[in-house]
Amino acid sequence: MEGVSEERSEEKFIRKNSGKAFKSRKHDKAEKRKQRKKWLKKKRQRQQQQESPVHEEPAVQENCQVRKGKAQDTAQEKEQKEGTNVEHVSRGKRLVELSKQRKRKNDDEVETRSKVPKPTKGEDRTKLTAPRTTQTHNFKELDRDLLTIDETNKIGSGTFGRCLTATYRNQYRVVVKEMKVRDSSKKESDRAKQEVIHEASVLTDLGDHPGIPHLFGVCSLHAPFYLVLEELAVEGRSVTLSKAAATGLIADITECAAILKQTCEVLMFMHKKGYLHNDLKGNNVVLDGASHKATLIDFGKSKQITKAKLMKPKVNIADAAKRYPHIAPEIHRGGRQTIASDVYSFGVLTLRVLKDGKFNSSALNSTAKRCLSSIPGKRQKLEEFFQVS
Ligand SMILES: Nc1ncnc2c1ncn2[C@@H]1O[C@H](COP(=O)(O)OP(=O)(O)O)[C@@H](O)[C@H]1O
Ligand SMILES: [Mg+2]
Repeated sequence: MEGVSEERSEEKFIRKNSGKAFKSRKHDKAEKRKQRKKWLKKKRQRQQQQESPVHEEPAVQENCQVRKGKAQDTAQEKEQKEGTNVEHVSRGKRLVELSKQRKRKNDDEVETRSKVPKPTKGEDRTKLTAPRTTQTHNFKELDRDLLTIDETNKIGSGTFGRCLTATYRNQYRVVVKEMKVRDSSKKESDRAKQEVIHEASVLTDLGDHPGIPHLFGVCSLHAPFYLVLEELAVEGRSVTLSKAAATGLIADITECAAILKQTCEVLMFMHKKGYLHNDLKGNNVVLDGASHKATLIDFGKSKQITKAKLMKPKVNIADAAKRYPHIAPEIHRGGRQTIASDVYSFGVLTLRVLKDGKFNSSALNSTAKRCLSSIPGKRQKLEEFFQVS
């Protein structure tokens, strides 16, 4: 069969290439021989091509692989591996092909990078960037539909927003700290969101401690932004240390000392973890359960010790000291927040609780006063606070 078809192919070739000659071919054997030679030559070339394909073909295949499967090999490497002879392809052609490959590879990389969704015109940016936020942070983005917020039970409010009690998954009693958005600008929305993320990050970094509320997670995809914490309560109500001292909830000096000691231990734990609280006061310590366990809250001003910067000096230092008596004087003057400035706050807290609760303890009193030295380095060491008192 093969022989027959080859004969026909030869005849066809000769007929095509020597139309004139063929017309008078009957006796023109020389012409026929010439055309036959040409045909044989073409046939040989075809066979050669089939046995060793030209360079461009594998290169093109290679490109397909890079685009699809992101194979790392270049066409040259592949040829080397397969032992393909590349000699018959000019150097210029090879270089052109290589540069084409590199460009395609770059395009692929750009394509992969640009897969992070970009907000289209009019689309809410926070919605698009939010999933990346929850990926980079180590806390949970909660489904706000699983929160049943009790709007009538506001347990705290201020410039930051408000704290409300809620039930999460119809099961857990939680406190929702809602960050206020002052206007509808994106800047303001980002700020409120950032505050929630900051506090959640600090709580996560601090890790597990009985004196720190458990963080359930955040709702940070859109306003209102929530920080969702374990609810701390005494007989179902949120009770701060300030309130407890002022309302006679603390039974005696023994209990008072125990609560202060627990507070001091949480603060030391924070310092060990590399964080400053920076806002320690009676309203930021909440009692929990029948045992009145002291729990530290409000990590909004918390910073890593190593990242504490010089503060902006207050215009009216005397006024600042009156308004924020728990803040160390060097901070009002534009100094740096340090462990010593947290120690100052702890001294103020202790004296205030003793005074409001009408407790007498000369030992606690004098140790607390040593926390108030105007020279930060001379202040009482927290580790020794309850040993010397
Ligand atoms: N986890 C909690 N359990 C019980 N009460 C809380 C909790 N978190 C906050 N509160 C109450 O809400 C008030 C305000 O919370 P806080 O985190 O201190 O906000 P702010 O930044 O305004 O000071 C607290 O003083 C406390 O009474
Ligand atoms: Mg507070």
